[in-house]
Amino acid sequence: MANDSNRFQAIISHAKEYGFVFPSSEIYDGLQAVYDYGQWGSELKKNIKDYWWDSMTRMYENIVGIDAAIFMHPTTWKASGHIDNFNDPMIDNKDSKKRYRVDHLIEAHAELLKTGGKEKESDDLLASMDALLAKDDFAGLKKLIEDNKIKCAVSGTSNWTDIRQFNLMFSTEFGSTVSSDDEDNKVYLRPETAQGIFVNFLNVQKTGRMKIPFGIAQIGKAFRNEIVARQFIFRMREFEQMEMQFFIQPGTQKKWYEYWKEERMKWHLALGFGKEQYRFHDHIKLAHYADAACDIEFNFPIGFKELEGIHSRTDFDLKNHQEYSKKKQQYFDNEIDPAIGKPYGNYIPYVIETSIGLDRMFLAVLSHCYEEQDLSTPEKQDSRVVLRFPSKLAPMKLAVLPLMKKDGLPEIARKIMDDCKTSFRCFYEEKDTIGKRYRRMDAIGTPFCVTVDHQTKEDNTVTIRYRDSMKQDRVAIDRVKEIVLAAII
Ligand code: GAP
Repeated sequence: MANDSNRFQAIISHAKEYGFVFPSSEIYDGLQAVYDYGQWGSELKKNIKDYWWDSMTRMYENIVGIDAAIFMHPTTWKASGHIDNFNDPMIDNKDSKKRYRVDHLIEAHAELLKTGGKEKESDDLLASMDALLAKDDFAGLKKLIEDNKIKCAVSGTSNWTDIRQFNLMFSTEFGSTVSSDDEDNKVYLRPETAQGIFVNFLNVQKTGRMKIPFGIAQIGKAFRNEIVARQFIFRMREFEQMEMQFFIQPGTQKKWYEYWKEERMKWHLALGFGKEQYRFHDHIKLAHYADAACDIEFNFPIGFKELEGIHSRTDFDLKNHQEYSKKKQQYFDNEIDPAIGKPYGNYIPYVIETSIGLDRMFLAVLSHCYEEQDLSTPEKQDSRVVLRFPSKLAPMKLAVLPLMKKDGLPEIARKIMDDCKTSFRCFYEEKDTIGKRYRRMDAIGTPFCVTVDHQTKEDNTVTIRYRDSMKQDRVAIDRVKEIVLAAII
């Protein structure tokens, strides 16, 4: 594919055409930055979820999962700092009335400089932006935009307003008789799943008899009123997070922060996409709750961007929940402190958080695995689109294809289906030539196809076709299930 932007567009079209991702309420022209997952997309998404959930809650014996509600007591968001601090600096273009996130506007300009061969100017611009953002120096940021003659993409002018903060939380009201400006009944759609974990810290610790260090994991929806939301499922207004809060002794946060950076990178690398697709990016401007933070960035078709965040959240959240709720959020640690020869006693734990967007992970998997392959020979032009998903993530694991719709072949194929479908997701199809059926399975990333033909009736063997190599082998019917199972574990 000629360039990354074309490749990204091709992936978005493929995702729609093959039932992975649809624009939300598309018959009404869609809703900006909101998407629906289709028949294969929802399977892929579920498999990514399971991959994360199983590795967090099964591979680490000291991590358990919960499923907290989206609505939470409004004071939660006061305590967490989201009401006061969950803001992005925004700037409006006075001519087009278009609003931009300041960092995105500057980053887009830096990208233009870079593609125009002005690497140093681009790097200098980003460094100046980071320094000004770290100081919340909005006048300085506006001057930077003006000095660099950054223009609005719609109006083409540099007629900018001052920079203002804009809170990203959505709100609604509880009850049926309240007016919309009734602050007492205002509830928020959670902007992160983490707070559902913090407010349940003692419930889980006590009922699960958990000992520090331990973690609580959760997968769930989060909502943010994102202003710049034009990058398909990369930045959405409704999305899912997979978060884990790891509760530790105060003072040990550096060690655990490094530990989780390494563990999470290992998790990504285990998918086999290659080390060069990932990099760490340390935060210069820290979120209101963090004393250290970094992103794991992935090489998306739109460049290296944040896929997962790892944050050392100190005791910020639990301490504030203790203060606002007036309920102690302490843990009694009966481990002996070697310095004093007595138990560590009561303290509010510190927290290391790992937070990955499920939809971003979906996009990372989809975009990395998408390949347009030229299969032309001197005799014939040919090509295919193949999604080379790791077998454990593939929406469909096996396609069972009778060569013909007669001679008892469908009956044998149906028996293979019945034998396999209780163990993994299988797809049965009789229509069209076998070549067309293979291509359709390549396009949704099915790693194995078996074809039942006339020889099957004679010797109980089928042709198994491997998606990536397109190689075909003859195997006994009773080996099919074991071959697929071995690949998806
Ligand atoms: N609890 C910490 C937290 O929410 P974050 O860096 O704001 O931290 C964590 O978000 C992850 O959630 C990001 O790394 C990203 O993968 C995902 N995410 C954040 N905003 C998103 C959005 N608007 N659309 C899709 N995914 C998003």
